[in-house]
Amino acid sequence: MLVACLVALVVLLVIHYYSKARKYLKLPSPGLPLPVIGHIHKLVTKKMQEDPVNGMVALYRKHQKNGMMWIRSFNVDLVFIGDFDTLNYLYNLPDMQGRIGPVFKPTVEHERNLKPGQELPGVLLSEGSVWAEQRRFTLRTLRDFGFGKSGMEEMISEEVQLFLEEIRKSEGEPFNFGNKFNLPILNALWTVCVGQRFDYNDGKLLVLIKRMTEWFQRAAAPTALLVTAFPWLFKLFPTLLEYNETVKVQHDMLKMMTDIVKDHEETMDPNEPRDFTDKTLNEIKKTIKGDSSFHGSAGRQNLVHTLMDVFLAGSETTSTTLTWAVLYMARYPEVQAKVQEELDMVVGCGRLPSLQDKPLLPYTEAVVMEIQRFANIVPQGVNHTSHRDIEVNGQLIPAGALVLPLMAEILKGPYWGDGETFRPERFLDSEGKCRKDDHLIPFSIGKRQCLGETLAKAELFLFFTGIVHQFSINPEVEGQLPSEDYVNGVTILPKPFQLRLHSRV
Ligand code: HEM
Repeated sequence: MLVACLVALVVLLVIHYYSKARKYLKLPSPGLPLPVIGHIHKLVTKKMQEDPVNGMVALYRKHQKNGMMWIRSFNVDLVFIGDFDTLNYLYNLPDMQGRIGPVFKPTVEHERNLKPGQELPGVLLSEGSVWAEQRRFTLRTLRDFGFGKSGMEEMISEEVQLFLEEIRKSEGEPFNFGNKFNLPILNALWTVCVGQRFDYNDGKLLVLIKRMTEWFQRAAAPTALLVTAFPWLFKLFPTLLEYNETVKVQHDMLKMMTDIVKDHEETMDPNEPRDFTDKTLNEIKKTIKGDSSFHGSAGRQNLVHTLMDVFLAGSETTSTTLTWAVLYMARYPEVQAKVQEELDMVVGCGRLPSLQDKPLLPYTEAVVMEIQRFANIVPQGVNHTSHRDIEVNGQLIPAGALVLPLMAEILKGPYWGDGETFRPERFLDSEGKCRKDDHLIPFSIGKRQCLGETLAKAELFLFFTGIVHQFSINPEVEGQLPSEDYVNGVTILPKPFQLRLHSRV
């Protein structure tokens, strides 16, 4: 009798599970998800462990229909988009600008120390009017402080000079670029945001950045969503999958931003705002509308989170791209030589390259574009979500699903012909001029497209050309090329490698 009851209960639970999932069952997927784990068994195969980026592409190519594939990861529904036009359509839809589905929200609230049910603050994870107001203000204010203007180039160029001096100390020696770009890259942004730059040997901050990198790596594992599926498990065993560290690193970062805001409040002159933080504090002071995201304590909380968001989004991404850039230069010496030839011809050896040189450096620009395409550093972009069902290509994406770009398919898939080959010439036209391509979307596409794109592009160009202009970049041991293997994460980093730099000037 007991067995019969148990069997009946299990059958009922299974029917309940599939009836709840029925909207999703019409979407292309790698088969029927299993109760509780969903499609996790498809994500923990040996191939997926060894090469998750290409493993996901292989899964997508096998099961996609109309440019999309549904994966249920425990209780989180992910819809991967590998078709450029479909992504372009979806990421531009006003309804598709949500960030965090209802299932995911409590986990984020806990990790970011927020009240249950409250709107997520800041710019990266927020939605609706909070996001629209914070994004508009952040973009405008960063521009007021020089983003996209000559002041920004001056700040970056100073960092490039200092960085080149720093790496010159290791000339001829085996040199590991891992985490070396983070602080130099962060400095222009941080000067504008909080009026502060970091010493390259700031041990405390380097530790924080290392913890942040490790958190991004943990967050990309398929098991990361266990926290959302079984929060009680992590209450009982907080050290499971180092979840306590994931929470702590976010709390430590928020504390750092809170201290910065407090310090600004105590020292600012409202008539002479020094930086983004002062400007935002002025905005908070003058906001009387209670429903504004700049009002009172909510305004302050949004400022703290926006600072953390630009710190998170702005340091790891650009520096990871540059780490791939130097690796590729060692791997593809003929490309490096052509960049150097062009730089020598246009810039000469008496000064460093500047943004003004860019139009005269089509091959170099094409190389930077190819580095971004080939490195594919944010392989699953940042998810969007909709709070209502969305129809696209005759399929229905249910409300609350997390919609993600499958960047490897978009940046390296069939559209490019030989997408798996590093070939900068693809971005040159028949006259040798640099040719833009709509499908090159490392900064994503649509209404939430990267907010720091102008800064990132300027930094990539100036740091990359500065290094290649001043040094020849060689493998540590002649003839032994550094591998393109990566460490998986929200952003993917090359596995540790060493190079040797030799001065060209
Ligand atoms: C090579 C460097 C970079 C890459 C590849 C990159 C890529 C991305 C991507 C893929 C997104 C997701 C967009 C979406 O939701 O569809 C994003 C968002 C964002 N990025 Fe970047 N990013 C880079 C540099 C930066 C920098 C330097 C900043 C600093 C200001 C920054 C700030 C942001 C912010 C705040 C968002 C969230 C925008 C929103 O939700 O409205 N990023 N970025």
